[in-house]
Amino acid sequence: MNKTITVSAPGKLMLFGEHAVVYNHPCLVTAVDQRMRATVELLDTPEFLLEAVDVQVTGYKKPISELGKGEIPKGAQFVEITVKNVFAYSNKKRPDLVSGSLSKNSGLKITTTSEFSSQFGFGSSSASTVCTVKALSELFNFKLSQKEIFDLAFKTVLDIQGKGSGFDVAAAVYGGTLYFVTAGKVIEPLNVVSLPLIIGYSGIKADTVTLITVVKNTADKYPEIIEGIYNNIEKLVELAKAAVTKQDWQTVGELMNINEGYLDALGVSTKKLADMIYSAKDAGAYGAKLSGAGGGDCIIALAPDEKRKAIAEAITQAGGEILSVGTNAEGVRIES
Ligand code: PMV
Repeated sequence: MNKTITVSAPGKLMLFGEHAVVYNHPCLVTAVDQRMRATVELLDTPEFLLEAVDVQVTGYKKPISELGKGEIPKGAQFVEITVKNVFAYSNKKRPDLVSGSLSKNSGLKITTTSEFSSQFGFGSSSASTVCTVKALSELFNFKLSQKEIFDLAFKTVLDIQGKGSGFDVAAAVYGGTLYFVTAGKVIEPLNVVSLPLIIGYSGIKADTVTLITVVKNTADKYPEIIEGIYNNIEKLVELAKAAVTKQDWQTVGELMNINEGYLDALGVSTKKLADMIYSAKDAGAYGAKLSGAGGGDCIIALAPDEKRKAIAEAITQAGGEILSVGTNAEGVRIES
């Protein structure tokens, strides 16, 4: 058996449907060409070692028997709980493989590195979870389907975060551009040729769980209004799905603007995001919106070729940082 494996998975950008997708509605998500990597090494000592410098974890070590127990630093949670969940899963499904390979005297060293900052909201935690599931399944030779990797990684994210639709996990597993419904009820790869997006980072790190709670509180107070907004977001996601595959950028841009209006109504846009979005639109974008939970992270603007430079400059003027990121990237893969 191979003793070391390196796996990578892409980050993501939400295109349409954030927040509504937490409550049984669809969204569109694209995988970005900046990747998270995990190298998993079998050790001869019964220990779990983790190096994850991007999230300030260095020299983290504990006995394998203590996995998931005690105080776990924030940066170590996703990888450690993933290992625990993969062992529990495989012990049930293929006890011969894991118990045989990981005997009393063996352990694991995992090293993660990222091509993107964990501040951007590209889903570094979910991507590292997906890398770890894939790496362990290959190392211990229990082949998992994409859906099984999704289910295990999504369970881990829910164990830690308690909330979320799993769209980021799906992007890391499948890559490309996906039509996705809550918890992976539908994961449909779309035939997308290109997405002429410009990405502007607000410089502010958003906390997804806090923003989901903000929206939930509003929904508790005004259930019919918010359900109406979710239903309309669903309708625009369906239209956007068709328009994106047809490269009908005029329509995609208009739908982005409508989606942004609903996100503002849900209370998750900010002045900084709105400034960046309006600057992009004034400079000739087909449309622009926040991407993800809101509160910060990134905006996306859909740009005609001849206006890309002006739009990028306008976003920068409004205080944004342009991230040069490709979309529609490949899903989780073995690197070596
Ligand atoms: O915070 P992000 O970029 O991972 O996006 C969150 C999107 C939500 O719909 C608010 C949450 C979710 O898990 O779908």
